[in-house]
Amino acid sequence: MSELVLGIESSCDETAAAVVRAGREILSSEVDSQVAEHARFGGVVPEVAGRSHLRAILPVIDRALERANVSLDELGAIAVTAKPGLIGSLLIGLSTAKALAFARGLPLVAVDHIEAHVYSAGMGLPRAPWPCVALVVSGGHTALYHARSPLEIERLAGTLDDAAGEAFDKVAHMLGLAYPGGPSVSKLAESGDPRRFDFPRYRPRVERGETPPRFPPFSFSGLKTAVLYHVRGQNALSPLPAPEAIPAREHVAASFQEAVVDALVEPTVRAALELGVEDMLVGGGVACNRRLREKLAAAASARGLRAHFPPPDYCTDNAAMIAGLGWQRWKAGIVADLALDAASL
Ligand code: KG4
Ligand code: ZN
Repeated sequence: MSELVLGIESSCDETAAAVVRAGREILSSEVDSQVAEHARFGGVVPEVAGRSHLRAILPVIDRALERANVSLDELGAIAVTAKPGLIGSLLIGLSTAKALAFARGLPLVAVDHIEAHVYSAGMGLPRAPWPCVALVVSGGHTALYHARSPLEIERLAGTLDDAAGEAFDKVAHMLGLAYPGGPSVSKLAESGDPRRFDFPRYRPRVERGETPPRFPPFSFSGLKTAVLYHVRGQNALSPLPAPEAIPAREHVAASFQEAVVDALVEPTVRAALELGVEDMLVGGGVACNRRLREKLAAAASARGLRAHFPPPDYCTDNAAMIAGLGWQRWKAGIVADLALDAASL
């Protein structure tokens, strides 16, 4: 029986298709990014995203099959992101996957996008990392998981407000940098001093007599507001200054990045120690961040733990992770039918 799975991903602003053999071997991974279309709005516009997926989906699937040198007849199953994401975007991938599965008589496998980000970080490793702690940090999500296996993933903590990537995007805007903010803030931060400004790291408030939560939530809105006041001054009515008028802009970028990284590294390491696991996986667009990679790797080796990050192309949204986890689900007998629906959460 064929072990080839076609993965389809369209949950946000990337239309992606990939062919993966036996959950590990990536034969192709095509991504059509809409970043340029959304850049002038400073964020993803759902209506624009849906229409763009519709235009891109068939060419992207064709390219993935062609690059893999595989025909539809050779596939064993079709895996698709069913949640979470923008409904109008998810439905494009879902309808296409259903049509292909129905026409070819192939099993249809529903995949959770966040679980796929976790899987992505473990996919290329020579040794299976399960059980482990997994941190998913993207523009839409920031959460910590206990992953006992690719199919048993329990959420330990989420964010009270912004996602880490969203904080990067907003701070980039304050500093007059390009969207998406992660890459532009971290580039500017390279020439800055991360200790110049002591921006706040979120600490959950514990009332006297209360026991602190075992896995405290993340929060980035206080940090974001601190950067805003630093850049614009205390008067909430004054406009943002022009980028060249922001003093020590590179130090602001570096100090902000340091605060985000610290807020991610510490709870992840603590969760690994608390749960007695040795491996930590990190996925999502923010996992591209060099400082996060360095600091988590350093914290891991100081504690006898291991930190694993996918290569940058597999941190951001892609369909190889969907095909990979889809194969695991298919082999475990978890198959969907044509009534499969999309869900935003
Ligand atoms: O996973 P992803 O491609 O899409 C979502 O599912 O959200 O993540 C995109 C997010 C954006 O917020 C972007 O600013 C952030 O990942 N990002 C980074 C870096 N590269 C991308 N954040 C920090 N440092 C980076 N190098
Ligand atoms: Zn994602």
